[in-house]
Amino acid sequence: MSYIKSALLEDKGYVILNRYEQAGDPPEWKNLEYVEWKSSGDTRFAPLTSAQGAIEVDGFWNHTPPRTDKDGVWIESQLAQAPTLARRAQEPGANVGRCRVIELQPNSYEDTLYNLHQDDNNRLNPDGTGWIVRGFFNLSDDPDSYLVLREDRFDADTEVRIPLPAGARIIVDTQRFWHAIWQKGPEPRYCLITSWESGPELDAYIAANGGSNEHENPPLEPQFIYDAQAAVHRRLAERSANLAAQGRKYTDPENTED
Ligand SMILES: [Fe+2]
Repeated sequence: MSYIKSALLEDKGYVILNRYEQAGDPPEWKNLEYVEWKSSGDTRFAPLTSAQGAIEVDGFWNHTPPRTDKDGVWIESQLAQAPTLARRAQEPGANVGRCRVIELQPNSYEDTLYNLHQDDNNRLNPDGTGWIVRGFFNLSDDPDSYLVLREDRFDADTEVRIPLPAGARIIVDTQRFWHAIWQKGPEPRYCLITSWESGPELDAYIAANGGSNEHENPPLEPQFIYDAQAAVHRRLAERSANLAAQGRKYTDPENTED
């Protein structure tokens, strides 16, 4: 047995859809209820689904009984504020797990590299079912900001930088890729992130929306990348040393998100 995966996603680990025209949609993310949830930067989350329909954003595997990132329960009060966003998340017809708007305050490229993490979407996901991937729908207009992906956390040669104008839609195997957002600001970035189960429904949605993994990175100075990477190594070494001084060992945090 093995997981059902999308061929296009399996190839490079991400797919870029054509941009969604959202100018006619109300800015529903401004009316949602947000909860404090620090993760990969200075963030707040507004869940549209959760494990049991309450306004909270913990991984479904941290609930009783623990379960995988599928069958998210829609939160009535949030649904009333954001019917368009909910419709967009449900449009593929794939099973929806966690679905939430994430607010991220501006950060630096160095912060982004420091924040790179892999998700844990497929914990408890039964073999033979669909691999869980995540859709990123940019809501705010951040054309100079990037979704940063790396196959290898510390290898800049594996880096993919995808711009985030309003309406940008990217689907990522976030358990495979190290990822984080470089939000240049000055305003915070808002993004609808949805966990979808891979399968024929998601494949059809990708095909119908011009899904492609052809991509050319926006340029970034090699020296700038090198300096940021060196600073991250220093920060990680300091963190390890501080923890060691307390008799603790560093482990990556769970449930980090963008
Ligand atoms: Fe993540």
